Amino acid sequence: MLNFKYYSPTEFVFGKDTEQEVGKLLKKCKAKKVLLHYGSGSVKRSGLLDRVIKSIEAEKIEHVELGGVVPNPRDTLVYEGIELCKTEGVNFILAVGGGSVIDSAKAIAMGVKYKGDFWDLFDDPNKIKGALSVAAVLTIPAAGSEGSNASVITKTEGMLKRVTHSNSIIPAFAIINPELTYTLPSYQTAAGVVDMISHILERYLTKTNDVILTDRLCEATLVSIIEAMRIIQKEPTNYEARATICWSGTIAHNGSLGVGRVEDWASHRLEHELSAMYDVTHGAGLAVIFPAYMRYTLEEDVQRYRRLAVKVFGIKDKKNKAKKVALAGIGAMESFFKELGMPVTFEEIGAKREDIDKLLEKLKINVGEIVGNFKSLTMEDCKNVYELACK
Ligand code: NZQ
Ligand code: ZN
Repeated sequence: MLNFKYYSPTEFVFGKDTEQEVGKLLKKCKAKKVLLHYGSGSVKRSGLLDRVIKSIEAEKIEHVELGGVVPNPRDTLVYEGIELCKTEGVNFILAVGGGSVIDSAKAIAMGVKYKGDFWDLFDDPNKIKGALSVAAVLTIPAAGSEGSNASVITKTEGMLKRVTHSNSIIPAFAIINPELTYTLPSYQTAAGVVDMISHILERYLTKTNDVILTDRLCEATLVSIIEAMRIIQKEPTNYEARATICWSGTIAHNGSLGVGRVEDWASHRLEHELSAMYDVTHGAGLAVIFPAYMRYTLEEDVQRYRRLAVKVFGIKDKKNKAKKVALAGIGAMESFFKELGMPVTFEEIGAKREDIDKLLEKLKINVGEIVGNFKSLTMEDCKNVYELACK
């Protein structure tokens, strides 16, 4: 295990009706005027926004609203949010929604404290000068942004999707009520599940030795996600299964499963170019990329892939057949994605083989010549993974 620092200051408030505590939690955080940030309407339709406002008003905390965040959130609304916060004297941002809303809130929070163009902070995280406090009422378990130090924003001009990191944007608190996820379309539930599985695999696929505790935690979380998701498919309002998925999404990406090891993140880099170019749902893009990436990197550590196949995907171990077992595991994961109605090929998400060179050009601008740590992928390797994902 490598040396590590683990910083996770978020107060997680989990369970039924917990959104009613939002006012009190904001008060505890000394919120005086709050920006309520949300997406394209699901939180209005469900009545959640009204309940949140009621709880905030009960504590006599002022608020202003900014809705309209779209999936793969754009810089344009971030600029609007920064101006609004400055003119209204906002000192706290509450995201009510999913990863896109939380990421937009985080970008606004950093932008308010920065004198120049907030996009600089996505070019160079060293320029981040702190942020307003951010918190979340989560409505979709997926991105894990409610506990992460990351924000992912798309620059509309040129459709550049980029991530930045800072401990200053880790949410102060996150309210997670599994019942709020009952209204999710099954496609979004499934895409969220693929995303959280991917967050675990980005950590699981490592060259660091002697990380057996986190290996086992990763495997246990993956098994729990698969079991719970199969229940939700039959019974979308099964509270316990929804609760398992919700908490899995958070621990998949709050850093706890990645301590003491070098993480990979190549598949996420490759996917972000797909969601930037085709505006595809992040989890759906990952369902296409991850199996291809795994087949491509199999030889990096056949034994690790074998272990994953046996411990998580229920493949029977066979002596001296490690590669066969490992490949069967990857196949089982891909079948699970299909079972959830997720796409697994370029074609299914409207991506085109002819665009691969353009994807690589943008990837190079965003991350440079080498991508990932499990295998240091050159641009040629990345091209091969994209080609494999075409099938
Ligand atoms: O906009 P509304 O109307 O709210 O609808 C949303 C949106 O259309 C809908 N939705 C959310 N909760 C709902 C609901 N519909 C009905 N009932 C509910 N309870 O679902 C759609 C997707 O929402 P979104 O926030 O985009 O989903 P997700 O949480 O998957 O976030 C995806 C974004 O997060 C980024 C992705 O790249 C993508 O931009 N990521 C952020 C990370 C981070 N900050 O740490 C890490 C991830 O790897 C990821 O890259
Ligand atoms: Zn992700």
